[in-house]
Amino acid sequence: MSKTLLLAEKLYKNRSLSLEEYEELISCRTPESVQYITKKALEERHKYYGNSVFIRGLIEISNICKNNCYYCGIRGANKNCERYRLTPDEILDCCKDGYDSGFRTFVLQGGEDAFFTDDILCELIKSIKALYPDCAVTLSLGERSKESYKRLYDAGADRYLLRHETADEGLYNRLHPENMQLKTRLDCLKNLKEIGFQTGCGFMVGAPFQTPLHLARDLKFIEEFKPHMCGIGPFIPHKDTIFKDEKQGSAELTCYLLSIIRLICPNVLLPSTTALDTIDPKGCEKGILSGANVVMPNLSPANVRAKYTLYNNKKSTEVQSAEGLKILKKRMENIGYKVTCDRGDVIKISDGKSKI
Ligand code: 5AD
Repeated sequence: MSKTLLLAEKLYKNRSLSLEEYEELISCRTPESVQYITKKALEERHKYYGNSVFIRGLIEISNICKNNCYYCGIRGANKNCERYRLTPDEILDCCKDGYDSGFRTFVLQGGEDAFFTDDILCELIKSIKALYPDCAVTLSLGERSKESYKRLYDAGADRYLLRHETADEGLYNRLHPENMQLKTRLDCLKNLKEIGFQTGCGFMVGAPFQTPLHLARDLKFIEEFKPHMCGIGPFIPHKDTIFKDEKQGSAELTCYLLSIIRLICPNVLLPSTTALDTIDPKGCEKGILSGANVVMPNLSPANVRAKYTLYNNKKSTEVQSAEGLKILKKRMENIGYKVTCDRGDVIKISDGKSKI
């Protein structure tokens, strides 16, 4: 039996490997190790979530951002990005449309836009919760102080997504300007979890300069941090960034990593991301068939969608929009899965080996 397959078995059994072992699992993957890990990832996924696919209504509330992450199309210094910001009323309209279509989680995502103060967000969260008490509110609004996160949590927000982007400090510094630090990100994630949010981290696959060792660090970080959610998708170059001529990440490696993450945290909420569906016409299905159990269609108003361009050619049709929900349901049915319209909270594991 190949060494990589032995490592795959060890990962399945222990939900843990050393940094060097993760690196080898990635760089020495074979058709057998991929097949084994995919099969076990699906078994784990079915054990906790059956064949349900949870949907989240993504509302991109603002593309105004004070940060300048080198890979991102809406980075503050990009003069070619046409900026917009939704008003609280417009956001509530998106929630209404989403609720009527069956969504029970709303994800408010945006750049780090100073307009969205704690006061404004708390009022907005309270309004959403008052109108739709059976829904979860997820925020994805970047780095804030612990006090701010606490206020948002107390106002009723349930979950927070903040990708760590990379757990390797050297790589983090090559992808971000000096005023952004990995430590700040990780402190934010720790604070979010301490406060009680269902917390999500994540990273890009195939980011510029990224090696299997960097990815191994991401996996080790995930193993130790034990996120409730984990968003990973391929890097896709954006024309207005210094990385415009870099290669995009691969769907194949993204799917392999999705399966590995499912084995590290069997009950994690794992989206099949828009980025994966953008680089591969069957990306959404491939993500689900690798162990993902969440899809996040877009509820943003049609006239702003094209402006939230983190990367080029971002998909906003079919499965990636609320209007396309029927198509999404069909795509999932075709591969033996069922879109479910409940909140889709994380399932607790009670086998003594619990990771979350
Ligand atoms: N390609 C893929 N993903 C990207 N993101 C930002 N820019 C890109 C890109 N060019 C991801 C980041 C961020 C999330 C909202 O989108 O990981 O956290």
